[in-house]
Amino acid sequence: MEQVLFVCLGNICRSPSAEAIFNALIVKNGLEGELQCDSAGTAAYHSGDQADYRMKQFAQKRGYRLTSISRPVDPERDFDRFDYIIGMDRQNIRDLKAMARNENDRKNIFLMTDFCQNMKYDSVPDPYYGGAGGFELVLDILEDACEGLINKLQNDSF
Ligand code: 4NP
Repeated sequence: MEQVLFVCLGNICRSPSAEAIFNALIVKNGLEGELQCDSAGTAAYHSGDQADYRMKQFAQKRGYRLTSISRPVDPERDFDRFDYIIGMDRQNIRDLKAMARNENDRKNIFLMTDFCQNMKYDSVPDPYYGGAGGFELVLDILEDACEGLINKLQNDSF
């Protein structure tokens, strides 16, 4: 069983969406016994909250239900449990690297957009203070990256 953790800042917009999209792909590809995912935030200020209502609405229109509850990254537990810890932007990567306990932890940290197969972005932009377009863009990038990630996990060990 391989374990993937998606990480953003608040764990109420981007990473819960990544989790829902990736879970849908796990089911679609019949990989329930092989892959599991979760999400977390580098900041704790939304801990215990449901996903952002706007993010939920835009995700719902594409058939994804965002059910996860925000929690902060727990370096001790998460670096032990997860094989791939995937940040949404470069600040997430910097924060995760600062939490890593050693080189072994650091080598499991990845940038989400590095798995994109079609979209040319170097981050999943934070949609929190923007309009509808920002939420749609998050979902577009995440659908592409999740597809790329699942292909990579099925085809090679990296
Ligand atoms: P997320 O979005 O990191 O994709 O969950 C944000 C959520 C909350 C805030 C910023 C970004 N905030 O500043 O409260």
